[in-house]
Amino acid sequence: MAAYCNSIAKLFKLLIFFTICSLFVHRSTAAYSIGVNYGTVADNLPPPAQVAAFIKDQTTINKIKIFDANPDILRAFANSGIAVTVTVGNGDIPAIAKLPAAQSWVANNISPFYPQTKIDRIAVGNEIMATSDKNLIAHLVPAMKSLHSALKLSGITDIQVSTPHSMGILSLSDPPSTGRFRRGYDRVIFAPMLEFHRRTKSPFMICPYPYFGFVPKTLNYALFKPNHGVFDKATGKNYTNMFDGQMDAVYSAMKKLGYGDVDIIVAETGWPSAGDPNQPAVNLENAVSYNRNLVKHVNSGRGTPLMPNRTFETYIFSLFNEDLKPTTSERNFGLFRPNFTAVYDVGILRNGQRVGSTPATPTAPASDPNKKWCVPKAAVSDAALQAKHRLRMRLGGGLHAIQCGGPCFEPNTVRSHAAYAMNAYYQANGREQFRL
Ligand SMILES: *[C@@H]1O[C@H](CO)[C@@H](O)[C@H](O)[C@H]1NC(C)=O
Ligand SMILES: *[C@@H]1O[C@H](CO)[C@@H](O)[C@H](O)[C@H]1NC(C)=O
Ligand SMILES: *[C@@H]1O[C@H](CO)[C@@H](O)[C@H](O)[C@H]1NC(C)=O
Repeated sequence: MAAYCNSIAKLFKLLIFFTICSLFVHRSTAAYSIGVNYGTVADNLPPPAQVAAFIKDQTTINKIKIFDANPDILRAFANSGIAVTVTVGNGDIPAIAKLPAAQSWVANNISPFYPQTKIDRIAVGNEIMATSDKNLIAHLVPAMKSLHSALKLSGITDIQVSTPHSMGILSLSDPPSTGRFRRGYDRVIFAPMLEFHRRTKSPFMICPYPYFGFVPKTLNYALFKPNHGVFDKATGKNYTNMFDGQMDAVYSAMKKLGYGDVDIIVAETGWPSAGDPNQPAVNLENAVSYNRNLVKHVNSGRGTPLMPNRTFETYIFSLFNEDLKPTTSERNFGLFRPNFTAVYDVGILRNGQRVGSTPATPTAPASDPNKKWCVPKAAVSDAALQAKHRLRMRLGGGLHAIQCGGPCFEPNTVRSHAAYAMNAYYQANGREQFRL
């Protein structure tokens, strides 16, 4: 592992998310209305038209998010009634910061499909702050503004502009009330971004992943299973699940900048249903527990301890198992296999179809603290090792350079490497909490 990234522990400091809490399984009878991320890093997926028909006819999913603006997918979802969030490629961000390029982007990627395809949001890049690419970061808010202007100039007023963030945007998160954005980015990037969101009535998009934040003793807390709660002294709130803790940490950070009123969307969250032998927490039962309880929780409308009664549009990651992802766990985030059979059901299948089941007895968290949560070395592909990208991150206040040998800037791999780094950190540091 050490060969993969130097100073990996530093990277961890940006990505780790913790909590020590307990939890109750929330029950709700609310109708499910949930979105999915339709990722396509695979060579065996069905044609988009079949996917659109499947989602429409067989599931209650009413919104999807894609990681590009694939015209075949946009055409396939025309007149489906399913809302689509499209994504601007990270590399297009600097150009789009200029209005004429933003207008071209809208003309090429939105106008041909809208409004037949219910495109309701544009994600400008994916987890840009986690790339630590100064050029992308500097152009992010300008690109969002210019896309918004370009849409308006095209007469389109009902497509929101936003950008998804990993939890690594926070330097503090535990307990939730301490949540705050990384210094240096808070006033320069996040304040203007949140001002843009408030002005344009668009949401802040966040990717909370208890899967990337748990340690053995917080596994049940991460999975919405019963355990001891976490009490946040500053607010007097008890936390019963890590999802709430992560959401409230983000909310706390936003509130500190004066933007607690801006809507939050869960752009991605999920739990893989299969992993390698050294990942005992990665299995079907835990994927079912996390995703099924997540759906119930977000649909209950009860919100979080700091955001009571607020609802969060939520996109599960992901629709399909994607066979070209680098690791076993990454290949198994899907709710469905490429032949449309359900890996498990989180309550989104129509017509009473049921696949998979909730295990009756929760499994105790693994007690062996060694070698439990580490993504296997095999996760690091030759390509990743040979890639020339260098990742540098500024950590709160001081400058700590990190050099990473992986393709850290690619939208669909940032998270996997974050997971890798995070787990490596746990291995190396006895999984102790730390703060920046
Ligand atoms: C929070 O949990 C603690 C410990 O379980 C309990 O003593 C306290 O009454 C709870 N507080 C609230 C506000 O529920
Ligand atoms: C949340 O909803 C409940 C039930 O409708 C209500 O009693 C409570 O006052 C609401 N809380 C807030 C903060 O709006
Ligand atoms: C779907 O694919 C899975 C694994 O890829 C296979 O086990 C299953 O038999 C297939 N089901 C159908 C109905 O084709």
